[in-house]
Amino acid sequence: MLVTTSELFKLAYGRYAIGAYNINNMEQARGLFRGGVEARAPLIVQVSKGARAYAGVKMIEAMIRAAEEMYPEAIFAVHIDHGDEETCYDAIDSGFYSSVMIDASHEPLEANVAITKRVVERAHAKGVNVEAELGMLGGVEEDIQVDEKHALLTDPDEAAEFVRLTGCDSLAVAIGTSHGAYKFTGRQSLHLERLAEIQQRLPGFPLVMHGSSSVPREEVERINAAGGAIDPSARGVDVDEFAKAVPLGVVKVNIDTDGRLVWTRVHREHFRDHPENFDLRKPGKIMMAEYARFIVHKCEKLGCAGRLEQVRAALTADL
Ligand code: G3H
Ligand code: 13P
Ligand code: ZN
Repeated sequence: MLVTTSELFKLAYGRYAIGAYNINNMEQARGLFRGGVEARAPLIVQVSKGARAYAGVKMIEAMIRAAEEMYPEAIFAVHIDHGDEETCYDAIDSGFYSSVMIDASHEPLEANVAITKRVVERAHAKGVNVEAELGMLGGVEEDIQVDEKHALLTDPDEAAEFVRLTGCDSLAVAIGTSHGAYKFTGRQSLHLERLAEIQQRLPGFPLVMHGSSSVPREEVERINAAGGAIDPSARGVDVDEFAKAVPLGVVKVNIDTDGRLVWTRVHREHFRDHPENFDLRKPGKIMMAEYARFIVHKCEKLGCAGRLEQVRAALTADL
């Protein structure tokens, strides 16, 4: 069942967060839906501009529609991740997406407000929700490099004003996370005090955490033991911190890198152990099962596992 992100956020706020996972191929799509159903959890399927270019817009959308048919129990929203204006308009006009993210956070504040407002007007006219971003995450974000040290945390007063001026439906906040596998130099923890201040200015308003992969040490070790070369000091967000962010208004948690690590580990280990194999379906089958297992684990940590029936009851009662 394809639903809007706002509907999911209303039910989740203060109780649990929903994982938003980037997909690029069929194995991720099937693993994601299978994991969501196994965990009895709602999902947010994220499509980036890069994913649309890689798979092709028609193909990635068709994969999601096919997954919906194959996993009829799944409840999910489809979201454009880090969209520019053009991608957002294209997605809004297509009628397929529940929500779009307009990411103009690299622009000066006035330009971010103006661009976000334009996208909100066009999206709301079609019943599409809009996520915006304020503040800068560290690491690599699409083609923008932001040094970790100079990453700017979201200013709480500015956040409240930004939401009022733009009319966006949810806000991605910079609270110390960053994209990619190399997020932090030491042990990382979220700036929960900053999150609490943002929530005070925006009570009940859905907040989004980007850059929330945990880059599990075991995953990195297994990849490297199978011929990979990932910096073993790579660290991400401790999955046990999600529970602390939920009461502070976080409803959506973006995860991409961890899924890529699952893919890398599965394929490296498979070809290390079976150098004679050239049947792509053999590692592909393992990938789907492992990806589903990874999704179940995330849903448990986000608190959204086991919520599917109550979400379905609440959403179908409105019909
Ligand atoms: O934050 C960006 C996401 O991880 C998407 O990555 O643009 O390489 O698809 P991508
Ligand atoms: P990670 O790189 O931590 O997985 O973040 C993904 C993300 O924020 C997608 O928008
Ligand atoms: Zn992101």
